[in-house]
Amino acid sequence: MNTIKQIKAREILDSRGTPTLEVEVILENNITGTFSVPSGASTGIYEAYELRDNDKNRYNGKGVLKARDNVNNIISSHLKGMDIFNQKAIDEALIKLDGTKNKSNLGANAILGVSIACAKAAAKAKGLSTYEYLSYSNNYSMVYPTMNVINGGVHALNTLDIQEFMIVPISAETISEAIHMCVNVFYTLKILLKKHSTSSLGYGDEGGFAPNLENDEKALEILIEAIKQSGYTPNIDFKLAIDAASSEWYDTNKGSYYLPKSKKILTKEELVSFWENIVNKYPILSIEDGMSEDDIEGWKLLSDKLKDKVLLVGDDLFVTNKERLAMGINNNIANAILIKVNQIGTLSETLETINLAKQNNYEVIISHRSGETNDDFISDLVVATNSRYIKTGAPNRGERVAKYNRLLQIEEEKNELYEPV
Ligand code: PGA
Ligand code: ZN
Repeated sequence: MNTIKQIKAREILDSRGTPTLEVEVILENNITGTFSVPSGASTGIYEAYELRDNDKNRYNGKGVLKARDNVNNIISSHLKGMDIFNQKAIDEALIKLDGTKNKSNLGANAILGVSIACAKAAAKAKGLSTYEYLSYSNNYSMVYPTMNVINGGVHALNTLDIQEFMIVPISAETISEAIHMCVNVFYTLKILLKKHSTSSLGYGDEGGFAPNLENDEKALEILIEAIKQSGYTPNIDFKLAIDAASSEWYDTNKGSYYLPKSKKILTKEELVSFWENIVNKYPILSIEDGMSEDDIEGWKLLSDKLKDKVLLVGDDLFVTNKERLAMGINNNIANAILIKVNQIGTLSETLETINLAKQNNYEVIISHRSGETNDDFISDLVVATNSRYIKTGAPNRGERVAKYNRLLQIEEEKNELYEPV
């Protein structure tokens, strides 16, 4: 019987030692599905609500016992008996039970944990891998990692204002080759950064290096050097990608940007010029959150200048929300979207947003959060949805590597991933 018998949640720790939820769905035939919920640090203000206990005596208020209890005492009995293959009905029931627009009643962490654990149980019940169960077709395309190898912003205690400096192995033909290429550059980068960093070399939250450099551009220069010294050609083998996470810099009242580490203040026009200069000097594939979630005027300026040259990725801007994405499409801003399952809180809504992006030719990048677990669901998601890119950190730290290792497994299962016909 492929119906839900019970749903159990427990409080576990994420990669920063912060509590999060692990949810297990048990079917009447005792098949189970488990999902662990990720958590962001540079979160967008339009994200679904992450319910935390706010009990200052436990984990600095970050416990998730209330969210756990909502799963165990409310959601479990409500969903009992539901058909595990009807994901849409399950997600709709969760949304209705919560009753708020941003899932603040039960908590988006509780709801997401249940939603994805159900999808994993359903796949198992059909004897399929999760990506096969979720896929619309048997055609799978190549997935390119965008590996965040230098960390800054709120993810690292260093001098860099830009949150993420990524390498993208565009000439790779297989996932295993792509991962190998990135690791080669990562090794070389370590040697180069040891020479350039004014402090001993540490790591940031996503496993990339966290050097102290004279400015952000220096990080790009060093990445180009690392690519060359590893035997690759910039722009042919590798492009660079940036996540500015500039919502963290934005002063809503003044309409300007304050970069806290370099202590620079930039108008929106100056920030657009900064990105133009970077795009002219380096082989840039994408700039994520180049402007703030609340600076639609700035996004229009940036899009007018750079939309035809690079991917302009909306993360905090769109928060995996189809209404926010529709707003972006109507305003002709950005041309790519970052997808984070916990920004919206159910699998069905995530898939709807991905579909809307594809229908409007927005590139899709499936992403982890800076607070992660060893759960590798997003690797199945990127393959199932034929999305071109995955963003899941450096090839360093178990919770990041888990996702790359899952992609290697999938590649072996499929022999190769190929472009859809
Ligand atoms: P976050 O960072 O998970 O801390 O929000 C990732 C990102 O901004 O893409
Ligand atoms: Zn981002």
